[in-house]
Amino acid sequence: MSEPRKLYVRSFGCQMNVYDAQRMTDTLAKEGYVETDTPDDADLVILNTCHIREKAAEKVYSELGRLRKGQEESGRRSMIAVTGCVAQAEGAEIVKRARAVDLVIGPQSYHKLPELIAQAEARGSNRRAGIVETEFPVEDKFDFLPPPTRAAIAKRGPTAFVTVQEGCDKFCTFCVVPYTRGAEVSRPLSKILDEVIRLADGGVREITLIGQNVNAYHGPDATGQPVGLPELVRRIAEVPGIARVRYTTSHPRDMDEELIAAHRDMPALMPYLHLPVQSGSNRILAAMNRKHDRELFFEIVAKVRAARPDIAFSSDFIVGFPGETDEDFADTMDLVEKVGFASAFSFKYSSRPGTPAAGLGEQVPEDVKSQRIYALQALLDRQKAAFDAACRGRRFDILLEKVGRFPGQLIGRSPYLQSVVVEAPAEAIGTLASVIVRDVSTKSLSGEILGGEFFATEAGMETRIRGQSEKVEA
Ligand code: SAH
Ligand code: SF4
Ligand code: F3S
Repeated sequence: MSEPRKLYVRSFGCQMNVYDAQRMTDTLAKEGYVETDTPDDADLVILNTCHIREKAAEKVYSELGRLRKGQEESGRRSMIAVTGCVAQAEGAEIVKRARAVDLVIGPQSYHKLPELIAQAEARGSNRRAGIVETEFPVEDKFDFLPPPTRAAIAKRGPTAFVTVQEGCDKFCTFCVVPYTRGAEVSRPLSKILDEVIRLADGGVREITLIGQNVNAYHGPDATGQPVGLPELVRRIAEVPGIARVRYTTSHPRDMDEELIAAHRDMPALMPYLHLPVQSGSNRILAAMNRKHDRELFFEIVAKVRAARPDIAFSSDFIVGFPGETDEDFADTMDLVEKVGFASAFSFKYSSRPGTPAAGLGEQVPEDVKSQRIYALQALLDRQKAAFDAACRGRRFDILLEKVGRFPGQLIGRSPYLQSVVVEAPAEAIGTLASVIVRDVSTKSLSGEILGGEFFATEAGMETRIRGQSEKVEA
């Protein structure tokens, strides 16, 4: 038998790209490719790119430069594909700027990978003229992307992402996503359930439903009727083996009453919500076309907290949007003070070609953006530290995910996605443990196991049944 071909995939950007990279790997596994963790011995290198900010988009070119240098030194030529949002946004520009690129494939065409690779190979010595595929095809790529094997699922561990919705119709004025990922499309309920059943069968315990606007999910059921995210979450939580469900990323506008009630009624839905707000200034929110003001955000936070008192929030912020004054920025700081976040991402505004905000006159100077992000991140870091510190002495269920740095240690995740280090045998990976948090550091928590699915239950503790642990009445 011939040697299997080796594939190296590097993903940048959001969780959609992480998921897509897995589906591309699954597609190519069927073609005989095995994964390698270095580009040096790869026959095919895929750079799965992100276009969200200028720095992210430029990374692909520095990465391509490094690849070219490595190849010159070793004399080994691998095929190079650029996928993801830079591929979609820049298309043929990429092969002009980086001649070593053989393939440029947009996010809606990943099912065509084998065919496109074959085309590139057929070009032989002439293959330097790269192939560009960035159409939005009529067929649904998900119907053609092969599912992962059991071995691939097991290797990826007990948590999995599942894309349920792609694209975005919101058109925030700073954002490239509506252009790189196209219009909002929801996958059918039955297809998502099939995928979750398969993942659960391979040992997955926690599903994170992902989409650029996941709470706008409205996929058809068997009768063609649209189903919302709350129903989707409910159906997934019923799949045997699945103990936890999360969803990300949400838009405040689509946090409707039913979804808020789901946080009250479904224990499997983790009490942690990523809800990007971007700014605390109503003037800036309007200029961003966010379709919500700060008051609506406060109202949603209050309602979700009333429904699920132990919920914690994370968010995304942009500082230095065109026209942002000191006063606008003070409103953002004020919103952060009022809400209190367990974690957050904050970014300096980056002007993106083709977006409405790029054309706005009053761009904020770089040094002002730097001062603002410094102040905002200091505040958010303090809030995160306070949230983590308050977890000391709390008892949570931890999903044990992987081995730790030292022998005998495992790392799991709390309901709030904090890493928690515990002492436990490797056989306990993939089970839920009830843990009391003893220590808190900047990177992780550590705790002591009191019981759980794998461990002898302590007196009085409920017997945990695999897959039903979150549903047992406390
Ligand atoms: N769909 C998600 C987020 C998509 S991008 C949502 O609607 O919230 C992730 C984050 O990147 C955004 O929430 C925003 O904070 C940031 N971002 C997007 N475009 C940006 C830009 N042009 N400059 C700086 N940050 C940006
Ligand atoms: Fe971008 Fe706004 Fe859509 Fe989020 S909601 S993906 S920020 S356009
Ligand atoms: Fe980046 Fe595309 Fe995700 S631009 S953030 S990889 S949707």
